[in-house]
Amino acid sequence: MSSSDSKTTAPKIGVYPGSFDPIHNGHVDIIERCFPIFDEVVVAVLRNTSKEALFSIDERVEILREVLADRPRCRVESFSGLLVDFMSEIGARTIVRGLRAVSDFESEFQMALMNRRLDPRVETVFLTPKEEYSYLSSRLIKEVSRLGGDLAGLVPQAVLERMPQRTPKPKPTA
Ligand code: PNS
Repeated sequence: MSSSDSKTTAPKIGVYPGSFDPIHNGHVDIIERCFPIFDEVVVAVLRNTSKEALFSIDERVEILREVLADRPRCRVESFSGLLVDFMSEIGARTIVRGLRAVSDFESEFQMALMNRRLDPRVETVFLTPKEEYSYLSSRLIKEVSRLGGDLAGLVPQAVLERMPQRTPKPKPTA
C-alpha cells in the first residue's frame, strides 16, 4: 500500500456564494446540480449592506435553510469580507457559480480570476441552470413581485409565502 492510500481523503466541499435576495428556482436548480459533484455543499450568503435588500440576511439564511431542509449534505452560512477568506476558514477550495447566458460571462470571469489571484488554491466552476430558469434573476423577481405579477413556479414556496408582506401591490389609482 502506498502512503497516499492510507491517507483519508478530505471531503470535496463546493461553495455556492451569492446574495440570494431572494433565492429563486434557478438558484435551487444549481444547488441540486452540486450534489453529484461534491460531498458537501455550502450555500454562502454575502452579508452586504445594500439598502435595496428585500430580505434581511437572517431572513435569507432562514429561507434557504427551509428550502434545503431535506438536504443533509448541504448547509447554509453567511459571510462577510472576502469569499476566499471564508473558504479558507471552512477548508473549501471550489466556488460554484451559475452561468445563465453569455451576458453573465464577463463579470463571472473577472470574479473567478480575482478570486484565484487572491488565493491560488481556489478554483471556480460554472454550472448552467435548466433552460426554463435561464432568464431568472433576483432583481426581476423583486420587480415582478412589486408590480403584482405571479411568481408561482419561479421561486420556492418559502419565498412565495413571504413576498406579499414585503412588496405590497401598488394601490390602483382612482
Ligand atoms: O448573487 P451575487 O450578488 O451575484 O453574488 C456575488 C458574490 C457574493 C459571489 C460576490 O459579490 C462576492 O463573492 N463577494 C464577496 C467579496 C469578495 O470576495 N470580493 C472579491 C472577489 S470578486
